[in-house]
Amino acid sequence: MDRFVINGGRLLSGSIKISGSKNTALPLMAAALLADGPVTITNIPSLRDIRTFARVMAVTGANVAHDESSHSVTVDAESLDRTEAPYELVKRMRASFYMLGALLGREGKARVSLPGGCAWGPRPVELHLDGMKAFGAEIDLEQGYVIATAPGGRLPGGSFTMSPSSVGATVNLLLASVLAKGNSRIENAAVEPDVVVFSEMLQAMGARIGGAGTDTLEIEGVDSLAAVNFENCADRIELGTFMIAAAIAGTPGQKIILTHARPDHLGQSFLDLFQKTGTEVQIDDRKVAVTAPAELTPVNVVTGVYPGFPTDLQAQWTILLACTNGNGKVRETIYPDRFKHIPELRRMGINAIVVGDEVVVEGGSPMQGAQVMSTDLRASVSLVLAGLVARGTTYVQRVYHLDRGYENLEGKLIELGADVSRERYDEWADPE
Ligand code: EPZ
Repeated sequence: MDRFVINGGRLLSGSIKISGSKNTALPLMAAALLADGPVTITNIPSLRDIRTFARVMAVTGANVAHDESSHSVTVDAESLDRTEAPYELVKRMRASFYMLGALLGREGKARVSLPGGCAWGPRPVELHLDGMKAFGAEIDLEQGYVIATAPGGRLPGGSFTMSPSSVGATVNLLLASVLAKGNSRIENAAVEPDVVVFSEMLQAMGARIGGAGTDTLEIEGVDSLAAVNFENCADRIELGTFMIAAAIAGTPGQKIILTHARPDHLGQSFLDLFQKTGTEVQIDDRKVAVTAPAELTPVNVVTGVYPGFPTDLQAQWTILLACTNGNGKVRETIYPDRFKHIPELRRMGINAIVVGDEVVVEGGSPMQGAQVMSTDLRASVSLVLAGLVARGTTYVQRVYHLDRGYENLEGKLIELGADVSRERYDEWADPE
């Protein structure tokens, strides 16, 4: 396995390019399965999750060409002859469940393994299934698989109100309904930028989606969807992560420039709270300049659906709070158990405790390098951020979690002046 070795204390400066969004690329790739003809999507990040999803899609017989050098994926579903997503692949990545909507929409049937829980909790999918039933699908569960069938080959359509609003369920229901025989309606749909950009691609293919970008979607089923070329948007969570890195480890008074970004996708809540920490932010279209202050002010955050503070940035915010000289809190309302990083951060000297759905952080304790273990993607990146500011050497183990969702993380940090390297290690080796 690989680990990161981080010698903390380097002040960062310079400029890096933000990669394409993982959580938008996955639904865009699924949408490509609905087209008549080859679809090319550009600005696809080089990530393990993208490779996994390309493999899941290829199981159906669709032609999936993932060219990492040009950051593009071309999907031609004409050869698709198998309507299945097997457990062995779905268990590696929950977003594989998008195959349910894509196959049901395209072929009128699907057999897709149910995803299990994940590192921080159960993460149910009943909204996906109830929504598809509301649109007229017959749903059966068989040996861990969902068998979904559209009577007569195409869904009649229907109406579904989502509670809570779910990114994944909105994506799956759009995939299932854009080629339906009749019309559908989704109320309390997710409005995260990932969903909005995905709706834009479907519209470019000829889908009729009214209210795209709002929480009420009206879908008029069409008979076919055309092949398109589509550009994926920039990764908003990568942007937020590097903004936090710049705030905690940037050279005070010097700008760190993040290019090819979509700051409008971060949501106003993050941008407002971030600036309240004393960090200066200048936005010029796709370019974000972040200047670290001499001292950070603690600011409490509460996660929420877009445009609220993203749950995918709360673990990173904990490190920002630890770098202040005051007390702060992170309250998690989307996934109340998403705090697996806290025990590892405590091993680095961070004074943070979990109280119910909150993390209470007492800033100002000196952080020291340690051997720490990644548990999931965002938890892992919080360990890397802590390593950047800790005294001494931090070993972040199980880097494969980071490789799922951050393209060339160590390369980008090195470009900013961090002392980070990747090395192989034997996790089960006895201590010397
Ligand atoms: C997406 O997950 C993202 N994943 C997650 O990012 C992100 O944390 C999450 O949205 C919230 O923004 C991808 O886009 C691949 P949800 P998703 O369904 O779609 C509840 C990362 O680190 N819910 O919007 O699975 C659920 O428990 C990942 O990149 C139900 O109750 O999230 C949660 O409380 C991790 N029943 C809330 O909805 C359901 O059937 C929102 O989850 C579905 C969801």
